[in-house]
Amino acid sequence: MIRNEPIHVWLPGRATPILSGEFTHNSTARSGYFQYAPAYLASRHPPLAPDLPLRRQALHIAGGLGIFPLFLDAGPDVWGRHMLTRRLEREVDEFEALTLCPLDGVGNIALGEITGEREAVLSLEAFVELLHRLEHGQKAATDLEDRVLDAVQKGTSLGGTKPKLTLSRNEVQYLAKFPEPGDSPWLPHVECAMLKLANACGIRACEGEVWPLPGGRRTALLVKRFDRETLSAGVARKGYVSAHALLRLDMLPHEKADVLLYTTLGFTPAALKKSYVSLASDMARWCGGQEAHREERRELWRRIVFNLLIGNGDDHPKNHGLICIDMEQQQWRLSPAFDLVTHPIARQEPVLAMAYRYVKPARRGRSQEAAARLVWKASVEDIVAAAVEHYAYDTVEAGEYLQFAAATIARRWREFLAAEGMPEEEVGRYENTFKHGWANPA
Ligand SMILES: Nc1ncnc2c1ncn2[C@@H]1O[C@H](COP(=O)(O)OP(=O)(O)OP(=O)(O)O)[C@@H](O)[C@H]1O
Ligand SMILES: [Mg+2]
Repeated sequence: MIRNEPIHVWLPGRATPILSGEFTHNSTARSGYFQYAPAYLASRHPPLAPDLPLRRQALHIAGGLGIFPLFLDAGPDVWGRHMLTRRLEREVDEFEALTLCPLDGVGNIALGEITGEREAVLSLEAFVELLHRLEHGQKAATDLEDRVLDAVQKGTSLGGTKPKLTLSRNEVQYLAKFPEPGDSPWLPHVECAMLKLANACGIRACEGEVWPLPGGRRTALLVKRFDRETLSAGVARKGYVSAHALLRLDMLPHEKADVLLYTTLGFTPAALKKSYVSLASDMARWCGGQEAHREERRELWRRIVFNLLIGNGDDHPKNHGLICIDMEQQQWRLSPAFDLVTHPIARQEPVLAMAYRYVKPARRGRSQEAAARLVWKASVEDIVAAAVEHYAYDTVEAGEYLQFAAATIARRWREFLAAEGMPEEEVGRYENTFKHGWANPA
């Protein structure tokens, strides 16, 4: 099936989107074309992304879903997709979901027509009031009302991603994350504490706060949206690309080849493609210069260390991304860290969702090949070696940071959890989580 849809963009400093061009998608061939609008080119507006340079000719993309990485992130997540399917009472494919979803997706791109209903953002007060009415008999008539009810009642959401909504307070936009059934009621407190602890470890993390829902209900987490900027005229947006989209993980290698290589290498090519190592090298094209690329690789390594130290194994490629800080110059940086979660655990070695070190097969002696190796597990030796090999640190600095982060966390985790209002007994359940033999805090 071939479909054409307009692509709108919010340019820096502007609260209203403009037409940047048209995207033609061929779902059978799994390919697409993006054509910049003549008026966009004539006005000398900036390119949308490094892989979408300003050209009169259409730009082509093939493989995977056949959709440019930047466009992929404008769409709904699993929960949003589920809400869309339920509202339309039919399945929607990836492309259609992008063109029909609410326009609260991450980044500065909108696919399809822009309508008032797609654009609607509730204030915190309006959310509370609407929720009250919906729970007292009013039927959910619009998509937004449906999402409000679902976010809190959580009866219908799918597992995996949490119900969430964008809400505004004093014109500033926040992402409200609601715990699912089965989640600990303290999850928002823990996530909030981890964002602040990350900051204390020298990581750029999102600003979060725990939001007690009225009526003695459970709490939600509010995180300030890093891709929105409040102007006097409204809200502007910044470009965003997830690591998942940047690494083109929609086009992972063929399964059969994967299995074959797994038996010889001990890891699959897909695992290498989906690693921190690939992210560190592939983001070079987006950083707009060697110095920035070096700084972002270092920041990425600090996040790896932090995730290992707090045992956050949910650090998958959609939990990392880049934000555009200068569209004209195409300068992208790691977005503030988000979705940093930890759980009470029995003592064990942390393992990440993406490998952070790749050891190439080395020649030993004349013919013997030492096997290649990918590393997911916490080990001081691997972390420090990786810092030097992939993330622009030297050994001494890497060792110092590791000591600093481990000591900061060991000293302060209780304080951060308690500051969010968690009772002592609940805080105590995290004792094993933050006790690592491998990190050797000073
Ligand atoms: N502060 C923020 N500003 C803008 N966008 C954000 C922010 N935090 C998260 N996002 C976007 O929203 C998506 C969902 O957020 P988050 O990862 O926190 O939710 P989640 O439901 O816990 O995800 P997961 O599926 O990983 O469990 C992210 O992948 C990211 O694209
Ligand atoms: Mg996430």
